[in-house]
Amino acid sequence: MAEWTKHSLLDLKSLSVEEIEMILETAKSFKEVSSRDVKKVPALRGKTVVMLFFEPSTRTRTSFELAAKRLSADTINIAASSSALSKGETILDMAKNIEAMNVDAIIVRHSCSGVPLVLADNLSASIINAGDGCREHPTQALLDMFTINEKLGKIKGLNISIVGDILHSRVARSNIWGLTKLGANVTVCGPSTMMPAGIEKLGVKVSYDIDAIIPESDVLMLLRIQKERQDDKRLPSIREYAKIFGVNQERLRKAKKEVLIMHPGPTNRGVELSAEVADGEYSVILNQVTNGVAIRMAVLYLLLGIREPVSA
Ligand code: CP
Repeated sequence: MAEWTKHSLLDLKSLSVEEIEMILETAKSFKEVSSRDVKKVPALRGKTVVMLFFEPSTRTRTSFELAAKRLSADTINIAASSSALSKGETILDMAKNIEAMNVDAIIVRHSCSGVPLVLADNLSASIINAGDGCREHPTQALLDMFTINEKLGKIKGLNISIVGDILHSRVARSNIWGLTKLGANVTVCGPSTMMPAGIEKLGVKVSYDIDAIIPESDVLMLLRIQKERQDDKRLPSIREYAKIFGVNQERLRKAKKEVLIMHPGPTNRGVELSAEVADGEYSVILNQVTNGVAIRMAVLYLLLGIREPVSA
């Protein structure tokens, strides 16, 4: 395997195929660690990882914290609401003060695109993007790719359809960068009001008809309708979206026998997908969550670790 050289993980746009494959390969060994009775290896003993989340999160924050703890790192969670930001401190000043306590990595989620890049440009600690605005959510796409590979044995040549609010989705953007680099045929599908102009330039096909793409799809990746980013009223109603784009049992009858139903979470049951589909035989939504820990262990290990065998 080639040597890992990156100091931060900001996006998949700037990662090479080899770097993406290195993360996916490293995550395979870490998945086994989480199934042990004692779920801990000493790889990051003595390292300190700070989580700085300015937006709500269940999956990403918990799995990063579990990942760091399973690698024996010390972790600190800083809630934006109880920080000195409310006294007028800037995010950069806040991060510089945290770094002054000799931390090794800062994991950041923020509603503004580019915040992790600004921190990476100004700090020496490793910065990990846990989702920035509508730009990227690299570890989500990595865990999605890991899950597809685990379930279908490959990514190259698969027809992968990403359905929903493409315009506001950092998950869609990271998956488009990652999946196309690994050779998948990616189609994006959703209402025309939620389709970014010129998205084809990223190497994807565009569809506005979910019934037309379901029979060809090996993977249906459904995106959350982000009510918090809908101030500009791009949908007449959530009910109409559910009727035209929601995946239910009836729609799935036309799907391939081994289709994967994926969703980054949190799901809106009855909107992007029905409860039967979310809990049904094709759904790998909880596998995605499980794999999130292994992917985040791999990322932390590659960025911060001294290279030793996982079992050491
Ligand atoms: N997929 C995802 O980012 O979920 P959380 O918002 O719960 O972290």
